[in-house]
Amino acid sequence: MPFDTLKSKVKTILANEAETADQRLTEICELLQKSVGYYDWVGFYFANEVSRTLHLKAYAGAETDHTMIPFGKGICGQVAESNQNFVVPDVKAQSNYIACSIYVKAEIVIPLFKNGKNIGQIDIDSNTANPFSIEDERFLEWVNEQVAEIL
Ligand code: SME
Repeated sequence: MPFDTLKSKVKTILANEAETADQRLTEICELLQKSVGYYDWVGFYFANEVSRTLHLKAYAGAETDHTMIPFGKGICGQVAESNQNFVVPDVKAQSNYIACSIYVKAEIVIPLFKNGKNIGQIDIDSNTANPFSIEDERFLEWVNEQVAEIL
């Protein structure tokens, strides 16, 4: 499904004020995971600034043990500190990486900003090698901007 079509579906989900923010985040994860062939696991982590940890709030795909990730650990924890997109074409080439599944080959993590502050991130795992392009980065930045508005 093209990203433009997905954008209108994301807008529809986020506009549904009958649901909680967490429900809407889960629906976005499910939409992205089922609509983009190389998005095998999609989740949102949010930061606790006091304990300096990330916490999984919503996801679609296989269950993960990594519901809490300290800042600095893994790709996710590094993005909590860097405030930068992190695109990993080959997870085997990363030394600071937390494996969730033996099938995962690539990962993309895009920080989510609210009022200029990095409060969380969208994390996508792919079982396809090197699948992510600048189009994924721009699309996922857009998704995070939309999500920030309901938080
Ligand atoms: N691979 C991530 C951990 C989270 S799982 O992908 C769901 C990382 O290295 O931070």
